[in-house]
Amino acid sequence: MRLEGKTAIITGAAQGLGRAIALDFASEGAAMLLADIQGEKVAQVAALIGENGGQAEAIEVDVTNASAVDRMVARALELYGSVDILVNDAGGSGNQGIQDITDVTEEQWDATVDVNLKSAFLCAKAIVPHMRERGYGRIVNLSSFSAKGNFGELGTTAVRLPYAAAKSGILGFTFQLARDLGPDGIYVNAVQPGFILTEPGARVHDRFEELPDDVRDRMTRATPLGRPGRPDDVAKAVTFLASDDASYTTGSVLEVTGGR
Ligand SMILES: NC(=O)c1ccc[n+]([C@@H]2O[C@H](COP(=O)([O-])OP(=O)(O)OC[C@H]3O[C@@H](n4cnc5c(N)ncnc54)[C@H](O)[C@@H]3O)[C@@H](O)[C@H]2O)c1
Repeated sequence: MRLEGKTAIITGAAQGLGRAIALDFASEGAAMLLADIQGEKVAQVAALIGENGGQAEAIEVDVTNASAVDRMVARALELYGSVDILVNDAGGSGNQGIQDITDVTEEQWDATVDVNLKSAFLCAKAIVPHMRERGYGRIVNLSSFSAKGNFGELGTTAVRLPYAAAKSGILGFTFQLARDLGPDGIYVNAVQPGFILTEPGARVHDRFEELPDDVRDRMTRATPLGRPGRPDDVAKAVTFLASDDASYTTGSVLEVTGGR
């Protein structure tokens, strides 16, 4: 029970990695506010946690909207009185296979950067005054291995250019924020997942299923560990960074990629 007595906000918790992180946090004893733009779906995750004896509430939030983010933080404080952990998971790159810069519209650029990068800024900005007051906080940001610009022919990433730029931006955001907030007892780290096959109905899973057999085979064989990642592989890494086990780790990036 590494998160016993801790409170957390997890964004993007309706499905995929955010959902897996929420389930792992619950098994480690955290009380949570689960936030997602898919209100009904995130409520189901909170209900599942409740049925299994955990503590979670859900809230429908667009994390690219500053006032909605402020409402999310206010709700968490109303529920639990404090927030120890923020996980910035909400993000993604949609489902359209757009790979060439000349095909990327300005709107797609803005939307992808907003949901993957600006959202982390807004959520951290809203929670930091509270964490600073308590002299304690753990912020974990979801970057991506695609931040390194390594998507070639293979990959499920859709609007991959702005996505790579935004996930790379998450790294700079993490490094600088960790430096700025270290003296306040607030740790900021990032996780860099590789190809993680989420559950049916989630974005990466469904896009992967649509790919031709040979492409799926090559993607699976591309990792030294010879399998796609599982959501729980990422959740365990996030739980470590959110817990006091990571007692001297801030401004770091943990790769969860199955090797290079
Ligand atoms: N699955 C992977 O292989 C992989 C790899 C690297 C990085 N990531 C990153 O991990 C995170 C989770 O990925 P996933 O595969 O679970 O994605 P997903 O698309 O399955 O889930 C993302 C969740 O974020 C929510 N969301 C989207 N926009 C939102 C908004 N404006 N406000 C609130 N919620 C919003 C969605 O409703 C969804 O529940 C993302 O940041 C993604 O970029 C995933």
